[in-house]
Amino acid sequence: MSQVDEIKRALDIVQVVGETVDLDTRSRTPKANCPFHAERTPSFVLFPDSQSWRCFGSCATGGDVISFIMKRDDVDFREALQSAAKSAGIELDNKESEKRASASPLIEANEIALGYFWTQLRSAAGSDAQEYLSNRGIDMDAARRRDMGLAPSGMDTLTGHLKTSNVSGKAAAGAGLVVQSADGGWRDMFRGRLTIAIRDAEGRVVGFGGRSLDGSEPKYLNTSRTELFDKSRILYGLNWAEKNIRSSRTAVVVEGYMDVIAAHEHGFENVVASMGTAITSDQVSQVANMADTVILSLDSDSAGQEATLNSLETVWGAFGVSGAGAGRRSRLEIKIARLESGKDPDEAIRNSPNEWQDALNNALPLLRWLMDAYVKRFDPKSPAGKSSITEKLYPLIAAVENPYEQDRYLTELAERLEISIEQLRSNASQIRSTQTRRQSQRRTVTRRPDGGIEFTHGGVAASLEEHLISLVLAYPDLSEFATDLEDELFEDIQNRSLFVLWRTSVTIDKLRTSLTPDLEERLDQITGRTLPPADQPNRVADISECVRRLHERHLRLLKSQEERVLQEMATGDEVDQTRGIVDDNALKTNDRLKNLFARQR
Ligand code: UTP
Ligand code: MN
Repeated sequence: MSQVDEIKRALDIVQVVGETVDLDTRSRTPKANCPFHAERTPSFVLFPDSQSWRCFGSCATGGDVISFIMKRDDVDFREALQSAAKSAGIELDNKESEKRASASPLIEANEIALGYFWTQLRSAAGSDAQEYLSNRGIDMDAARRRDMGLAPSGMDTLTGHLKTSNVSGKAAAGAGLVVQSADGGWRDMFRGRLTIAIRDAEGRVVGFGGRSLDGSEPKYLNTSRTELFDKSRILYGLNWAEKNIRSSRTAVVVEGYMDVIAAHEHGFENVVASMGTAITSDQVSQVANMADTVILSLDSDSAGQEATLNSLETVWGAFGVSGAGAGRRSRLEIKIARLESGKDPDEAIRNSPNEWQDALNNALPLLRWLMDAYVKRFDPKSPAGKSSITEKLYPLIAAVENPYEQDRYLTELAERLEISIEQLRSNASQIRSTQTRRQSQRRTVTRRPDGGIEFTHGGVAASLEEHLISLVLAYPDLSEFATDLEDELFEDIQNRSLFVLWRTSVTIDKLRTSLTPDLEERLDQITGRTLPPADQPNRVADISECVRRLHERHLRLLKSQEERVLQEMATGDEVDQTRGIVDDNALKTNDRLKNLFARQR
């Protein structure tokens, strides 16, 4: 249960509202003159069953206890949550400040470990490791510059050193430097390995990569996930590269630590690494704010891999087509540099820096590269291959905004498949219509126990609200479909707050800075969701459908609340003018629902 839920559960909306509002509690749906606008007939109603409220009068809005406090005190979500927590007697764990306070001992532990590893590398015990580095073109000055070191092969050598340096066991374990063994004792995480310190963009040591020196597996052992260290988010080398990336407006992303080190040692100062995992959208978005061009330099062995292709497709969906006209994020050019087979950047650079520079200069636009990759992967001569290639590439090409560029890609694809452009188009539309049919069969709407509606898309259950937010975040050109929506369409208070904040922030980074830990977590969930690749018309259809369903759901909620109030009145003996107001509302809601269905047809 999230803290927000916990707090809401601990509070009773009737009691909270009753503190400042004079409630008429004779019926099971307590009423009052609306505290948010002047009126003589009560139109403000509480629904204790669902712990929600609504003003049927001129506010025409409603929500839960948190949104009530937001409105009552005119505060944002963060403050309202704080005051709600206080009333509920729940200690709000401020994860953010807690994180910061607890992070420094971990960083300190890492810094101490880095110093220790360096001393070991420099010592007599490090002579083999020194020789290994020297064979790889790294002298001790470079090793020092690049924060390298040696973890001795003893079981608890670092553990002992940390103890004598007064590092607490909690910090050492929290930083991932020591791990508990089966017998309950503590032992070093890195043993007999060359260590490479990993710094975040601010230069704080957040973890280590440890390379085996004797061919043992795994080749690299990395700090496991800790409070500081999340492999999927870190770009190795960004602390060295940021300045140059900003000034040259170009970032080069390689796969490995040693590639980054060789690059920087040879004067390529805009190079970072994705740390072996296929590049994530999160990583690209970090450099997207600093650069106009990102060149991905792929090892030749990973270039054709499914995971790489998938991640590139996702990256392309999130960045390659972001409309220049949308204004939120200028277009990022993504290119792929190809190296002679069998070489990784480290070897290529040491072999010939000029050659590597050429490879960067000749990098292919991502879509061109994907075209090559898919034509290689499937057989362009066979009908099945033609169809697979079209299925993969046509949506990507259809989303290219510049019509001339788009035409060039289409022509080229048709040539590669040895069919005419007309035939390509008709094949694509055939594929798309079977896809849509399949998709709409798969798409089902189910009711959750809490009354919300879940939207199942291709097997992934995604709430309608979150799906909409993820769409506008991933595709800024869709924002026009969402900016005018009423906040009220979002029933979940966290989604609603995120939506409201999204409208006022220009970029996702800006949005992040205004979030409470709870909202940040929700945002992470939402952005972590992979959207099915779709071309622009399909995305527009998707978001329109999403908006329509949100409206429908909202109107149904209104209708059930109106019915509830009228029912309560029929059984009560009060004759109430409120009835008139709610009756009016009910008629309007019916009309709106009818309109919505009429438009759908
Ligand atoms: P590579 O296998 O290409 O290693 O993995 P490399 O960086 O070229 O290293 P050398 O040149 O063989 O010493 C690329 C990256 O993938 C991650 C590391 O971040 C590595 O730099 N990786 C690889 C791991 O985390 N664990 C492994 O076992 C292998
Ligand atoms: Mn290598």
